[in-house]
Amino acid sequence: MTVLRGATTVLQDTPNEISLAVKELLDEIFAVNALKKEDIRCFVFSLTTDIHSFHPAKAARECGYDFAPLFACIEPEITGALPLCIRAMIFAEFPEGNRAVKHIYQRGAKVLRKDISEIYNIALDGLAGSGKSTVAKALAKDYDILYLDTGAMYRACGLKAIRCGISPQDESAVEEMLKTLDVKVEYSGGVQHTILDGEDVSSAIRENAVSMAASHISAHRAVRAKMVEMQREIARSMSCVLDGRDIGTAVLPAAKYKFFLTADSKVRAQRRYDELIARGQTVDFDSLYAEILQRDKQDSERECSPLKPAEDAITVDTSSLGINEVVATIKSLIQKKI
Ligand code: DC
Repeated sequence: MTVLRGATTVLQDTPNEISLAVKELLDEIFAVNALKKEDIRCFVFSLTTDIHSFHPAKAARECGYDFAPLFACIEPEITGALPLCIRAMIFAEFPEGNRAVKHIYQRGAKVLRKDISEIYNIALDGLAGSGKSTVAKALAKDYDILYLDTGAMYRACGLKAIRCGISPQDESAVEEMLKTLDVKVEYSGGVQHTILDGEDVSSAIRENAVSMAASHISAHRAVRAKMVEMQREIARSMSCVLDGRDIGTAVLPAAKYKFFLTADSKVRAQRRYDELIARGQTVDFDSLYAEILQRDKQDSERECSPLKPAEDAITVDTSSLGINEVVATIKSLIQKKI
């Protein structure tokens, strides 16, 4: 089955306008794609909620396209979407099998759903344990876009230093290590895998010792330059949610949506504690709490790209909110900006 798509707009919600616009759209789809009536299996139209007076399927029938099932549905209401818009999907089966087709957009109807037709990035920065990664994963799933965990990349650098017996604070040794450092991120089934020197280290980087090493190593300018370049390249090529410390300030200062998550330090320590216990690790709450405070200090006071909210980021305090509430809050803020 081949799907041909098209969209058009009308100036007024009147039967005459809708009929003319639908005819013009279908005529061009048929002409440009050398489409024959017998190839058509089904028409599906959708229209924005401001069109009431006439059905595009009815218009199509009146134009003589009444030889296949015709459906019409309502587009969800999207703030900022083009008004008075009609979209068509035509399902066709060609005798020669699937072939390339040209989709037709008339009367400025190219971008109907900005939220799904533009490459956009969501920058989610914040303190360790503020809920960034859980929220980022949920947003990525809901919007069907990529989740890039940038902390995992610094963790892989920290792990490499540990494995090489290098102090993550020793800048010259770390710079030497960078020459042969090979960190990649790969995805399978929408899940990020962090690859260090060809090995999948996604679990190993979650060890508690690696957290502190990552915090130290991420303070070096050369490390950040290497990781940030990779992050920008990924964000340029596809829509994604990136979580980290400097996404809104340094990695993607032009990101359309920026959020900064905070939470009380005791709450954050408790979340990390529960997470590590659930993974079967042995941890002591007090030392975890002390480590969280130390990491906050290191990440916020470092010279290069310190952790801080971007001026245009919206801060969300997650101390007393459940994940679903945080996700809903962020989604409604995004919706207002689309
Ligand atoms: O989010 P996380 O705990 O996985 O991050 C590990 C460390 O990496 C964190 O202490 C600071 C650093 N980091 C950073 O400097 N910049 C980022 N964009 C992400 C993480």
